[in-house]
Amino acid sequence: MNNLKKTVAITGASRGLGLVMTRDFLAAGDTVYALVRSDGKELPSLLPRFPDTLIVVPCDVGSTESVNRAAKAVKARTDHLDMLVNNAGVNFDLGHLVDYTRADFDEMDKTFNINTAGVMRVVKAFDPLLREGSWSFAVSSGAGSITRNPATEVEIAYRVSKTALNMAFRLYSNTIRKRKVRTLLIDPGWMRTDMGGPRATCDPEENGRLIVDLLKSADTLSEDILFVDFHGKEVPW
Ligand SMILES: NC(=O)c1ccc[n+]([C@@H]2O[C@H](COP(=O)([O-])OP(=O)(O)OC[C@H]3O[C@@H](n4cnc5c(N)ncnc54)[C@H](OP(=O)(O)O)[C@@H]3O)[C@@H](O)[C@H]2O)c1
Repeated sequence: MNNLKKTVAITGASRGLGLVMTRDFLAAGDTVYALVRSDGKELPSLLPRFPDTLIVVPCDVGSTESVNRAAKAVKARTDHLDMLVNNAGVNFDLGHLVDYTRADFDEMDKTFNINTAGVMRVVKAFDPLLREGSWSFAVSSGAGSITRNPATEVEIAYRVSKTALNMAFRLYSNTIRKRKVRTLLIDPGWMRTDMGGPRATCDPEENGRLIVDLLKSADTLSEDILFVDFHGKEVPW
């Protein structure tokens, strides 16, 4: 990807990693469609600084109607996206580290609806905006790697939703690469966001910066690599 200013859409831009990435893209001069379920505290304060390059669009990835409305609003303003960044995610299991004997599987579909189906309904609705050379990214998690999961007391619904996302995104990749649109899944690391909590090992500002650099230089990655960490190192499925 060259150094020309990019047009980017990011889901879950209201806080956490999505907000950090939004800020970093804007600081680099890129145009950002911030797709948000709620505005959050800081995002509105960025509008006066970036009146022409920050466009906030309501988008609840858990609702097909909301996602389609958001895609229509973005299409009304631009004919393409250089990058679609699927970042929104939930972990309803937070603080409930239990094994399968105590986990509540009746609630799993709520996590899937956002972390797995949510990403796929966004890529479907925004598909017409991707063209040759565009990138479609999804923030997954090392927690979704089957190879890397020896733990027993785990957030089962969250981890399985990310594993399923990886498969869904892989299948999407197989199709969309025919149009020379590339895809990448990213494990952002354990970050001190609302989701990661205060004990997490990584600073979201630092990892967000590394991830934005990674996304901007993704053209240099081998086409065989589809799942990487925030340093660009391949993550096993
Ligand atoms: N933090 C970690 O340690 C960690 C580790 C691995 C992977 N990840 C992944 O990284 C991504 C970002 O996580 P984070 O740590 O920044 O989490 P976060 O601080 O909890 O922020 C989550 C973001 O997702 C948005 N979101 C949730 N449900 C949504 C929906 N239905 N529609 C639209 N937006 C929705 C939230 O919007 P609202 O403000 O409206 O709720 C918020 O902007 C997620 O995909 C997460 O799974 C995080």
